[in-house]
Amino acid sequence: MFRDVSSCNTYNYGDALYWDARYVQEGGSFDWYQRYSALRPFVRTYIPPPNSTVLMVGCGNAVMSEDMVRDGYESITNIDISSVAIQMMRTKYDHIPQLKYMQMDVRDMSFFPDESFDGVIDKGTLDSLMCGTDAPISAAQMLAEVCRVLKPGGTYMLITYGDPTVRMPHINRPVYNWKISLYNIPRPGFQKPESTSSSRKSYLDPIPLTEKGLLPPDFILEDPDSHYIYICRKNNNTEMDNIPPYRLTADVL
Ligand SMILES: C[S@@+](CC[C@H](N)C(=O)[O-])C[C@H]1O[C@@H](n2cnc3c(N)ncnc32)[C@H](O)[C@@H]1O
Repeated sequence: MFRDVSSCNTYNYGDALYWDARYVQEGGSFDWYQRYSALRPFVRTYIPPPNSTVLMVGCGNAVMSEDMVRDGYESITNIDISSVAIQMMRTKYDHIPQLKYMQMDVRDMSFFPDESFDGVIDKGTLDSLMCGTDAPISAAQMLAEVCRVLKPGGTYMLITYGDPTVRMPHINRPVYNWKISLYNIPRPGFQKPESTSSSRKSYLDPIPLTEKGLLPPDFILEDPDSHYIYICRKNNNTEMDNIPPYRLTADVL
């Protein structure tokens, strides 16, 4: 149930051995889905620099964290289940004290005390777990841990190919009590066909969700290979219910 296995191909993205072998073979660096430059308005708005403490879950060998340090972030802890990726990144970023790398399974982050981080960023990691065995259990373990390590009022930012029909059943559970808003951005290099008309003003506009947390019936997906950004804000038991999703503005661009 709720497993979008069609996107998993034949690879076992949920398996640490798969990732170790891949990082040994490929080396270098690679950012899945999107680069920081495209995500910057969202990251800076919901997890503002310089003082936010950030946890990057399933960092792989992406340069996103390095780009964030260049953009003013002062504390980014990066974890990954692959010891190969972590060793490569430690060596590469030895000279950048704002970046820490630790080998860790996102389903068990007991090393971190409760309420340790202002922001948790997940680009493709929940997606990987969804391709593994026991995917719904893995997802629940991961999301419970993410919720636990977030400070009240903190933000879990999920960047994924998964639309709300396959992701909301996992993230929109009362136990997490997150206030969720959703954005959708095209894949890098996507050219909108000239004939396409759209009611959407900008990718920086949050998508108004239905009561069930789904896309509105009149929502037009311009790029079928676009990415969703779920902004999940942890309730701080004060005024969270009154905070609307932000309309992102040029001052964060
Ligand atoms: C699709 S890649 C994304 C890498 C990086 N976030 C990016 O945007 O390029 C998924 C990453 O999640 C890691 N991963 C998979 N399962 C994990 C787990 N249970 N705990 C921590 N990391 C995991 C993999 O090793 C891999 O580096």
